[in-house]
Amino acid sequence: MKMKEKVFELLERNKGECISGSSLASKLGVSRNAVWKAVKSLQEEGYAISAVTNKGYCLSEDNDILSVRSIAGYLPPSLSGLQLEVHKSLDSTNTKAKEYAAQGKPEGLIVIAEEQTAGRGRMGRSFYSPSMSGVYISFLLRPRFTARESLFLTTAAAVAAAEAIEEVSGSRAEIKWVNDVFCHGKKVCGILTEASVNVETELLEYAVVGIGFNIREPEHGFPAEIREIAGPIFLRSDDNGLAATDCEARSRIAAGMICHFWQYYQHLTERTFLPEYKRRSFLLGREVRTLTEPPITGIAADIDDEGHLILELPDGSRRILSSGEVSVRPLEPKSKTP
Ligand code: BTN
Repeated sequence: MKMKEKVFELLERNKGECISGSSLASKLGVSRNAVWKAVKSLQEEGYAISAVTNKGYCLSEDNDILSVRSIAGYLPPSLSGLQLEVHKSLDSTNTKAKEYAAQGKPEGLIVIAEEQTAGRGRMGRSFYSPSMSGVYISFLLRPRFTARESLFLTTAAAVAAAEAIEEVSGSRAEIKWVNDVFCHGKKVCGILTEASVNVETELLEYAVVGIGFNIREPEHGFPAEIREIAGPIFLRSDDNGLAATDCEARSRIAAGMICHFWQYYQHLTERTFLPEYKRRSFLLGREVRTLTEPPITGIAADIDDEGHLILELPDGSRRILSSGEVSVRPLEPKSKTP
């Protein structure tokens, strides 16, 4: 562990209280100057650490800090076997988790980052992942599943994400088939599942399930190209929301995600998440259009036990859309003539 991380750990253990520079220095066996340098560097990274004359350094209690300690504090003891890793910045938590998979690291390793410099989305797109306003999580799994069964990892993750968001923010979280999570009419969470399959056994060697949450509005807003679609879980105008972001909202959402997802994952083949997936679907009953050429328009009538979307076409026939085959877009309700 780097000196900076050691200083941070001690400050975090005593969050809201002052620790003198000399006490930190003697605990860590370094000079006071080395402690000061570490604190300065942490402050530059955005941590709210105040230096109080004659008292020492104090990490603000209501800082929304992401750390192993802050997340693990919200996890039940039954999940203590999971191994959490929190990074200030990574290119992509999925890429990191895949590297770990290739090194033979075990299932249950969870890679978390405050920022991604090359966050990846579905269909080769990038995923905007600024620091301080989001949280990015990847689970390394080694399930004894076929690739077909693994589709449900993403579905279960979408339900777990929606549940975590709603518990912490109090805002309704809905799922747009296949697996985007929406709040206040905007996408607040995206999921990317990647896997390696053994061609002989047809079983997965590993799967990495990556989830990105937009917790609050980024400092300079979302980039123009995604502004219409992406949004934050906590709205600026919402006073309760702002209060919630001050008290470890990111850690609580990360912990909620881990709890719910792990529970579903233990019984994935039983598909216990499917009723909730359907309940949270905001497409059902609405007119939608596939993003295919030519597009198909119909009413989203149901989601079957395989997670397929069933469209009812204008001629009364039904069309089953398999996840991963197409995306759909809800159509605006037709405007009424006066
Ligand atoms: C999408 O909406 O297209 C999926 C976005 C998935 C983003 C998450 S953030 C954590 C993990 N690491 C990545 O690089 N991507 C996923």
